[in-house]
Parts: sequence; structure tokens; C-alpha cells
Amino acid sequence: MSDTSVTVSAAANIALIKYWGKSGEAGNQPATASLSIGLEHLRTTTSVTLSGQDSIEGLDDKATSRLAGFVDDFRDQFNIRQPVSITTENNFPTASGLASSASGFAAVTLALTHLLQPDLDDRGKSRIARRGSGSAARSIFGGYVQVVLSDDSYAEPIMPASKWPLDVLVAVTQEDSKSMGSSEAMQLTAATSPVYDNWVASHAADMEIARVAIRDRDFLRLAEVSEHNCLKMHGTMMTSRPPVLYWKPATIAIIHLAQQLRAGGTRVFFTIDAGAQVKLICEPNDTQTVIRALESVEGISRLIETRVGGDPIIQ
Ligand code: DP6
Repeated sequence: MSDTSVTVSAAANIALIKYWGKSGEAGNQPATASLSIGLEHLRTTTSVTLSGQDSIEGLDDKATSRLAGFVDDFRDQFNIRQPVSITTENNFPTASGLASSASGFAAVTLALTHLLQPDLDDRGKSRIARRGSGSAARSIFGGYVQVVLSDDSYAEPIMPASKWPLDVLVAVTQEDSKSMGSSEAMQLTAATSPVYDNWVASHAADMEIARVAIRDRDFLRLAEVSEHNCLKMHGTMMTSRPPVLYWKPATIAIIHLAQQLRAGGTRVFFTIDAGAQVKLICEPNDTQTVIRALESVEGISRLIETRVGGDPIIQ
């Protein structure tokens, strides 16, 4: 770290209670709150150096122009003219429902604010990251995190990972990019799904149940509300016109497996974001049982083992 250069590692997160839908045109103002866990080992590492000329390395053309727009927006907000050189790297597949935009925009936000707005508080950083991607507001923090809805929504930590150290398995069922990005799919859903209004109206109740379950470390309660919220979100997608169906056969096989295992007493539940991958949240004593059971599922190309965590690291 120096006054002119910094490297930041920020982790991906997965929402147990989902953000799906926006309330305005600009700035990724979410229509629903959300509640997530940080993923300790799925990280983006981003270096920012104050330089004579802007440059971005490590991303494809689409992601590069999205990041360039974000940097311009950041500079406009604070009336800064300083050019920056950015290099960024993910240690997991991008754009396949593994939340690379969350860790990516959180990492660059932490690096830019470290160098150019050092007095900004965490809430301010979270709001900036949100403008890059709604889910990135949460990756400013590790552990259990919630988004608070306001005119300028932000995330805040609700419990550190150490208070409830659950394991997370990411079953990769699709290696290539997903069929439609989340921003576009959200827009389509809000405009065409007949159940979208109910999704928004019933969301606060799910948030409250999840918050209480986390406070009480009540696994079964968290499992029930998380799976319900996930399926409800995918229900809004599937009932859009045209429908958005991200799932692969293996996605459905894993849903059934998680439900069977839990009925037999194994502490596991699933969640799925805008993609085909399934994330399984497990009590650590039961993780090996779940891994063994997954061996019987066809169509899993990779299993990533991680745990709740993901505090950002500034070097
Ligand atoms: C299904 O944060 O990727 O993962 O704000 O348009 O960048 P944009 O969307 P993004 O959407 C995340 C959707 C989700 C649910 C969630 O993470 O809460």
C-alpha cells in the first residue's frame, strides 16, 4: 500500500433473501431489500494506481466498459479528475451466476475510496458499490449482511461469520455464461411477470424471518425461508414473457437432493441466483455427508468448497 497505489481483495456474496427488481432508472436502487452471506474463498483482487492516464486490465470488453462507466460516475460524484490504472482478477468463473459483479465492484470501490476519498464511511462505500451492481453493496462487508431500503439504499453487517460459521458448497452446473444478465432479466420480470407485485409485497416478511433465524442461529427456519424466497424469485422469472429459465437438469436434481437430505436430518439447504449454479449451505458437521451425496448427481462440473466469511482485505 502507498498513497498512490492499493490492492484490495473483496469476496463474492450470495443472497439468502434476494434483491430482484429496481425501483428507479439509475443507480441500481433495489425494489426489495436483501440479506446475504459473504463467501470466504471466492474473491476479486483489484489494484488501483493513480496514474497519468486511465487504463483497465483483466476484463473482457463488456465488463471493461461497464467498469469505465462506473469510474467516471465515481469521479463525477466527488468532482475528481485523477486518472487511474486498474488491474483486476477473479479466482472463480465470471458471469455464470457466481456474483462476480458483486466482488468486482466492491473491490474497486474500496480501492478508489481508499486512495481518493479516505474519509468516506462504510455506508457511503456501500452506496457507491451499489451504483456498480446492486449486490456489490453487500460485498463491502463479510459475514451476514443486509441491505436497508432508503432513498439511497445501502448495506450493513448484521452478524460476523465467526458467530455462525456455516459451510457453503457451490455446485457448478454450467461453465459458460448465463443466457441473460441479471439487470436485463430483472427488467423483463418487473415488466411482464404477473406475480412480480406479490414478490415485492411479500418481501419484508421474508427479511424479518431470516433476520430472526440468523440472530437465533435457527438453521431450519433460515433454510425454509431462504428456499422459499429463492423459488419465489425464480417463479417471477419463469412467469415472465418470454420466460427466463436459468436452471439445468442438474440444478433441479440438487434441489431434490437437498430437500431429501434435510428430511433425513442432514442440515443443508439450497439457494440459486440468476444462473444454473446451486449453492448449498451446510452445518459444518454435515458438509461431508452432502459432498458424498452430490457424487451421485450427473452434470456437476465442479464443486467449490467455501464457508461464510469474506471480510475485505486491503493490502
Ligand atoms: C439474483 O447485483 O447482479 O443475484 O444491480 O443489475 O448489477 P445489478 O444486478 P445484480 O443482481 C443480483 C441478483 C441476484 C440476487 C441477489 O444477489 O440479491
